[in-house]
Amino acid sequence: MAEHLLAIDDVADDFADILQWAIEFKRLWKSGDEIAMSFMPLDTMTVGSIYEKPSTRTRVSFEVGINRLGGYPLTLLKNDIQLGKSESIADTAQVLSRFLDAITYRCYGHEDVAELAANSSVPVLNALSYKHHPCQAAADLMTILEHFPNKAGLKVAWVGDGNNVLHDLMLACAMLGIDCHYAYPAGYEADADVIERAQELAAANGCTMTETNDPLEAVADAHVIYTDVFVSMGEEHMEDKLAEFDGFQVNMDLLSGADKGWRFMHCLPAHRGEEVTDEVMDHEQSIVFDQAENRMWAQMSLLTYLVDDGAWAAMGDMMGVGL
Ligand code: CP
Ligand code: NVA
Repeated sequence: MAEHLLAIDDVADDFADILQWAIEFKRLWKSGDEIAMSFMPLDTMTVGSIYEKPSTRTRVSFEVGINRLGGYPLTLLKNDIQLGKSESIADTAQVLSRFLDAITYRCYGHEDVAELAANSSVPVLNALSYKHHPCQAAADLMTILEHFPNKAGLKVAWVGDGNNVLHDLMLACAMLGIDCHYAYPAGYEADADVIERAQELAAANGCTMTETNDPLEAVADAHVIYTDVFVSMGEEHMEDKLAEFDGFQVNMDLLSGADKGWRFMHCLPAHRGEEVTDEVMDHEQSIVFDQAENRMWAQMSLLTYLVDDGAWAAMGDMMGVGL
């Protein structure tokens, strides 16, 4: 059992069950099932969420999800707390651990969330660092499995920057045995250590990870096409980057090479007209808003798993997950 969630492979052993739990729980909850709706594993607990960068989906999905699980969501914005001004990450972690039952942290450098976790006695969930976005990947794979319950032969294609969202997407695909092709311009590669880890997981799970600089090659016959902004938060000074992504926009021309049943995914927020056109974003085969909603269900599963594994297992048994 993982203590913290810094990158999605921290939950490699139970990832498939975590996603299945989320899918089943969402279905039960939406059908008004009384057991699901009164499932309160976070009763009397408080989950604190620190944000050093803006957020819409992560913040709202954590606050609503924690509340639905019976917990109290305490949001801590960077300008309102001492962290980064007069107090270290290590001291902050020790103080927060005395009050909170779990901590989510959106930060800049990945070493910051790693340091918070190293000094925290309660589970820490990475709510986006410059290197990883595991909560996003859990929602992404949950969404892919909802749309493609039979994952045999599935091909996921990434077209864009070699960034945090790609890192956890490729790890997550590798953990589930799903082929992943990722195309980025030279100079914007994914981190070598993440690729190496994804290759190891892929070899163990019978799938392939394929790197290319050609978006057409990545998208050829792909079932899922995924992109993200070319300029991430914290890179606003790197606007010239945009010119390097000529040919990497996901538009209807690019998608003409994909499988006919393609689905378009984006972690959002999208910069319409840059990495993706309106036509693709608003297409009936775009599943970006399912993805956004699933942030909450996937995180409810992850939080329960990390904070109250007994409740997670009991609910899983009731739903027939993990048997
Ligand atoms: N996808 C995502 O993390 O969105 P927010 O930045 O709005 O949280
Ligand atoms: N790559 C983006 C993802 C935002 C959810 C960023 O880090 O800004």
